[in-house]
Amino acid sequence: MFNHKHLLTIDDLSREDIMCVLEHAQMFEEVNNRPIKKLPTLRGKTICNLFLEPSTRTRGSFELAEKRLSCDSLNAGGSASSTVKGESLIDTVKTLTSMKVDMFIVRHKYAGTPALVAQNTTASVIDAGDGKHEHPTQALLDLYTIWKAKGSFDGLKVGIVGDIAHSRVAGSLVPALKKMGAEVTLIAPATLLPARPDVLGADRVTPHFDEVLPDLDVVYMLRIQMERIEEAPFPSLREYNLLYGLTEARDKSMKEDAIICHPGPINRGVELDSYMADSSRSVIVDQVFSGVCVRMALIYLLLGGAQNEVSHKKCASN
Ligand code: CP
Repeated sequence: MFNHKHLLTIDDLSREDIMCVLEHAQMFEEVNNRPIKKLPTLRGKTICNLFLEPSTRTRGSFELAEKRLSCDSLNAGGSASSTVKGESLIDTVKTLTSMKVDMFIVRHKYAGTPALVAQNTTASVIDAGDGKHEHPTQALLDLYTIWKAKGSFDGLKVGIVGDIAHSRVAGSLVPALKKMGAEVTLIAPATLLPARPDVLGADRVTPHFDEVLPDLDVVYMLRIQMERIEEAPFPSLREYNLLYGLTEARDKSMKEDAIICHPGPINRGVELDSYMADSSRSVIVDQVFSGVCVRMALIYLLLGGAQNEVSHKKCASN
């Protein structure tokens, strides 16, 4: 059913694959709501979390997903690893592969790093965010959250607002939403759009937030990626907030049942006012919880959890 070794880009997944991940995430959501949130399914498997860029949500939810599936985890990124002594990434990956790691979870500031890791290991690889390229597990957890809130993607009007130019979230989310049948509008000033926004595959692109806001079922706000911006793309944060921020004043323009998403971390008072971030429309906390369920589903599917269960049962009956 789910015949993949790696998740390096959302393009690798068909609509059926995505539904398979979402349905498995629903199963793991039930596990995450139990008092004892642990399954023996992947005991004996080892996962290396190779995070060479900061992360709270992605790293935390992958670590929890691994523990709740009974995998052994190894954290190899950051200042405690030999990369700071000048070891190349490929040497690090080969070293860890020789320790019989089954999967690498890779976050890196350079686009294409997870694919490079996959070329240099026999283990599975998941892209946990690479530069401005993609963040496929974020897109899957966003789909899961939207699916739970809205029940279907067909004809759903989704607006993605803000720093599209530097967003790996948009790089995965736009194709994922289109694959599932949603209608996607990108909303941003020209200075925060990529040179060819059409490549992302959205239905339309506009700088006029207030014109499209009343039609949207899902308002997906993006963070301004200050760490990836060299020149000021707008005169001031205050002006950006006035034109593109989801402010309390814009609440009354939204559909009654429209929801607000944000991948986090939020720049409160810039792209999203606290009033809106903490309102009943906001599903931001649900997105974080979805992250654990979806990442459990992906690890389970990529590491052959279903086959393992069959072989565990065979062993038990012998
Ligand atoms: N959404 C997201 O990737 O957040 P982190 O950088 O905290 O992992």
